[in-house]
Amino acid sequence: MISRRCCSKMPGNPCRALALALAALFAACSEVPATPAQAPAEMSAIAVPLGLPPMPYPAGNVPTAERVELGRKLFFDRRLSFNGTMSCGMCHVPDHGFTSNELRMSIGNEGATVRRNAPTVLNVGYHTSLFHDGRDRELETQAWGPFLANNEMANPSMGHVIDKLRSLPDYGGMFERAFGGRGPSADTVGQAIASYERSLVSGNSRFDRFRYGGDAGALSAQEQRGFAVFSGKGRCATCHLVGDTSALFSDFRFYNTGIGWVRGLPPSTVHVQLTPDYSTELTEKEILPISETVPNDVGRFEITLDPDDRWAYKTPTLRNVALTAPYMHDGSLSTLEEVVEFYDKGGAGAPEQSPLIVPLALSAEEKADLVSFLKTLNGEHETHVREGLQQSSYVSTGSHRY
Ligand code: HEC
Ligand code: HEC
Repeated sequence: MISRRCCSKMPGNPCRALALALAALFAACSEVPATPAQAPAEMSAIAVPLGLPPMPYPAGNVPTAERVELGRKLFFDRRLSFNGTMSCGMCHVPDHGFTSNELRMSIGNEGATVRRNAPTVLNVGYHTSLFHDGRDRELETQAWGPFLANNEMANPSMGHVIDKLRSLPDYGGMFERAFGGRGPSADTVGQAIASYERSLVSGNSRFDRFRYGGDAGALSAQEQRGFAVFSGKGRCATCHLVGDTSALFSDFRFYNTGIGWVRGLPPSTVHVQLTPDYSTELTEKEILPISETVPNDVGRFEITLDPDDRWAYKTPTLRNVALTAPYMHDGSLSTLEEVVEFYDKGGAGAPEQSPLIVPLALSAEEKADLVSFLKTLNGEHETHVREGLQQSSYVSTGSHRY
């Protein structure tokens, strides 16, 4: 066996004169005792693009190529919901930036509403806590939430999902190969899905090339002005952090921007379009008996019971934000222009709102610049979209294949 230590002592480039040098090389190397063949160490299959930090993962779950592939299959497998219709990938849709563009709040098993907007799972491997309220920390365990939630995939128990996986012939051997002989279990299902999610990196956006790739021309003059507003007058980078060598656009902390508080307020009057040419204003008293009740949601308070956490939600990443409408935990803002207006006014003006959200007095031009900057954050992840769509077993007849 040729040891690397030995080869590095060769003068010049050994590859050039490989044929001639081979005999000499073997002779030289024969002094070095050959190391006994070892099982290859497990290697992370995740290559991180420009603008992102190294992908962290727990020591016990190296995201190998086999685990990522198995996790992808599980993520898009509709058979793993109780009635065989719902997969993770139907709310985290690949060609919707791994969220659902058409729904403010997700719809799960048999039409049941989930009370929040589905966040993107692109770059989710970097999050230090999960969900809008941070109620979970580990991707390894998180998947069991939607697998078992009544309004998501509605499985009666972990055992039910594991038994189903044991009975599905197309999984034959995949778990065992990915996990050194271990078959489907609560742990291995969670580990495979976590590995797939960690592989969903998206970077090398035009912003990354500008900021980290030394390509000053990657952003237009307007987009560069927008970045100046983002990190200066607009104060956005206080929470949506941009580092010196990489950026996740989140501090992963929790703030009350006022959005949740506003949602809990009863509307004073509601504009109702009755026919295409006739609309009217109805009062709260008139609307209540015929409307759906707004699901109660007090954010992080539900986890900590600390009154300071009322209506506080996790700062989301802004990578790919142009792809992940609608916005905020309840999907209540439809466009980036609306989001910028919201911040310019100083948030919703809730009594206990974060003191970091204040009126900004941006000019119309500064607002337009800011929006144009946010649109430069789309990263490269075409491979993830293609592989996801190929994996999904359901193809609709609609305009997009999902
Ligand atoms: C019915 C739609 C739906 C399905 C099905 C679904 N999710 Fe989600 N997902 C959501 C919503 C909504 C949230 C946010 C919930 C909250 O914050 O309370 C979420 C949050 C997440 C998060 C946290 C992201 C973050 O930014 O913190 C991850 C990770 C995730 N889902 C993975 C999965 C996996 C894995 C599956 C399949 C086992 C799955 N989801 C199935 C709608 C869905
Ligand atoms: C005090 C911290 C803070 C500041 C300052 C801040 N944000 Fe946010 N941002 C948040 C939080 C928290 C949310 C999530 C709110 C929710 O889910 O209800 C959010 C959500 C967003 C979203 C929606 C993302 C999505 O996927 O739903 C966008 C876009 C956004 N912010 C852009 C900005 C811009 C632009 C600025 C500057 C004008 C800014 N933010 C300033 C904390 C902040």
